Order: sequence, then structure tokens, then C-alpha cells
Amino acid sequence: MKKNKDAVYYGDYLQLDKLLDAQHLQSEHYGPPAHDETLFIIVHQAYELWFKQVLHELRSVLSIFRADHIADESLMTVVHRLNRIGKIQQLLNQQIGVMETMTPQDFLEFRDYLVPASGFQSIQFKEIEISLGLKRDSRIKFDQQSFYNRINDADRAYLTGLEQQPGLFECVDDWLARMPFLRLDNFAFADHFKQTIEDNLAKDEAILRNNDLLSADELQAELTELEGTRENFAALFDQTLYQKMQDEGRVRLSQRALQGALFINLYREEPVFNLPFQVLSCLADMDDNMTIWRYRHAMMVQRMLGSKIGTGGSSGHDYLRKTTERNRIFTDLLNLATYLLPKSALPPLPDEVKHALRRG
Ligand code: HEM
Repeated sequence: MKKNKDAVYYGDYLQLDKLLDAQHLQSEHYGPPAHDETLFIIVHQAYELWFKQVLHELRSVLSIFRADHIADESLMTVVHRLNRIGKIQQLLNQQIGVMETMTPQDFLEFRDYLVPASGFQSIQFKEIEISLGLKRDSRIKFDQQSFYNRINDADRAYLTGLEQQPGLFECVDDWLARMPFLRLDNFAFADHFKQTIEDNLAKDEAILRNNDLLSADELQAELTELEGTRENFAALFDQTLYQKMQDEGRVRLSQRALQGALFINLYREEPVFNLPFQVLSCLADMDDNMTIWRYRHAMMVQRMLGSKIGTGGSSGHDYLRKTTERNRIFTDLLNLATYLLPKSALPPLPDEVKHALRRG
């Protein structure tokens, strides 16, 4: 490492003159400064700084995933950076508690001066959503129509440009679908898995039918439920059924990608799957954390505004509550549990497959 030429001064390095002079109260233009407006500004600024760091990590992860081949060392980097994003998100979720120390009445002291500005116009937040893979047409109607009318031309052009590029979701889908292991000549994972599931479901059905304690109606209800489970599993290996599930919005990953993700989860103890498993866990964590933030933010908004509309013109709490479920990206990874089998019931990997996995 080279020696530095000039002595670095803490405040200069961090440009604290700019950073600490960036809290200007709107309320001051209209009367006495509202005490809590400083908190409101600083909390938002802290969020935007962390968003900047999250995007820094996300862009690097995306550049790795956009390559045709991902080496193990790169997957290590992906896990490390996604993990960091997760930690930042946990911090962001906690910060809501700081904001909530402001009472709804204190907020009223300056809220009206902020119209029409809103967190809704946080371009970095939208960039995070888009980079993760949120598509405009899957947003709720208000967001599709109103958001793009409420930002300036440069921001609109920037986000529209981002929307043309594949997000993390698509990259992960491609990566999973490319997994070579499902195609190994001597091991048809699908056939083994299907057979094990069918055997297990047949056992469950026999237990139900032999249960004298169930009334005819109860037995019928249980059997209908079992049939639903059967259909879910069948779709995993049936192109037409899977397509139907996709059309109904019940699943977003491609069928091959979902099978790949499942394979990784089931056999995660195989050394070759350790890192992919960690990648999938980090993605699921990220989705969890984001959903928790949306939910906590929506609850805070209800507390601050009740059923009033937001400064950005949305229905406020109601709009935010809807985006909490609607804007999730990696739900399929969380739903994988539907298809898991206990380790003891797993079809064992044939030796030649194990060897092939170890050779990579
Ligand atoms: C008193 C505190 C807060 C209130 C009352 C509030 C209120 C709202 C409301 C009503 C919306 C919906 C859009 C609108 O009509 O304005 C919104 C969106 C948003 N707010 Fe907040 N907010 C608060 C604090 C924060 C903080 C601290 C952040 C951190 C950056 C934040 C970030 C966002 C983001 C990113 C959106 C867009 C969400 C989406 O479109 O899914 N808000 N907020």
C-alpha cells in the first residue's frame, strides 16, 4: 500500500460539511421550526445512504450473475454481498422504531408543507425493486400509473432504462435452469422424486382411509386436500399444469429453475450445492426483510395518518398494505417448502451422480 501524500482530516474525508449542512426544515419557511422535522429528514437521509450501499452491492451481484458462467469464487462473493444486504435491511427495519418516536400530532406540525413530495418518489428504492426483478406490469395499478407521472423526466428515463435490463430474478432463474445436474444420463431426478412423492401420498391416503375416527365428510375434506397437494407436486413435472400455475400467477420461476432450486435444497449437504444453497437462502432472506420493511412501514403509516391519503397522493396505508404482498420477488423460493421431503424419504443419489457432482 502506498503512503498517503497529505494528512487526511476526518471531516474532510467524510465531507461532513456537506452532509451535516443538508438538513433544511420546510417548517422554518412558515413559522417556528417543527422540532421533529429534523428527525424526519435525518431518518430519510440515513435510509437513502443505506439504499446507496445496497445498490452498490446489488450491482456487483448482478454483474456476476449476468455472466454465462459463474465460478465458485464468484458465488462466494455473491453470498458475502447478499449477506451484507441482509444485515443492512435488518438495520433498516429497526430504524422504523426511531421514526415512530415521533407522534402523529408532532408530524402534523410540518406534514402539509411536504406535499407533494413522498417516499414514493425515492428513485433509489424503485431502483432496488427493479434491480431485484419487479416488473412494471406486476405493480398495483396506482403504482403503474401514478408513480411515473410523479417523478421528473430524468428519473423517469433512468428507471425506464433499468426496466429494460434483466433483474436479479431473471438472472437467478437462468442460473438455476442451467444447472446441469438434472440432466445426468443415469439419474432422472424427476422420476425418482415423483415416485417417492407418489408413494408417500399413497401412504397418507391409506392412513386416511383406515382412520375409523373420521366421519364421511371429514374423510372427503381430507382427501380433497390431499388431491390439492398431489396437483402441486404433479405441476412440478408437468409442463401444462406448470404453465397453468404460471398463468394464474401462482409461480414465477420457470419450471426448470424451480426444479433446480428444489434439487439444491434437497441435496444441500452435497459440497457442490453448499454455495448455491446459501445463495438461495440469502435471496429468500432478502425477500423476507423487504416484506417486513414494507409491512412495518405500512403499519407506521396507519399510525401516523389513520386512513388519510399520503403526501404522494396514494390511499396511504391501504396502498402500502397492498404493495406488501404484491411486490414480493422471490416468493417461489420461500414456497419451496411445499415440495420438500424429509431426508430419510429422499431418493438416494446414485454413486455415479455423486461422483459427477464432485467433479463439478
Ligand atoms: C412519518 C413517517 C412516514 C410516513 C407518514 C410515510 C408515509 C408514506 C405514504 C403515505 C406512502 C405512500 C405514497 C404516498 O401517497 O405518499 C409512502 C411511501 C413510501 N415511503 Fe414513507 N412514510 C414515512 C416514513 C418513511 C421513511 C422513514 C422512509 C425511508 C426511506 C419511507 C420510504 C417510503 C418509500 C420507499 C415509499 C414508496 C413505497 C412503495 O411505493 O411501495 N417512508 N410513505
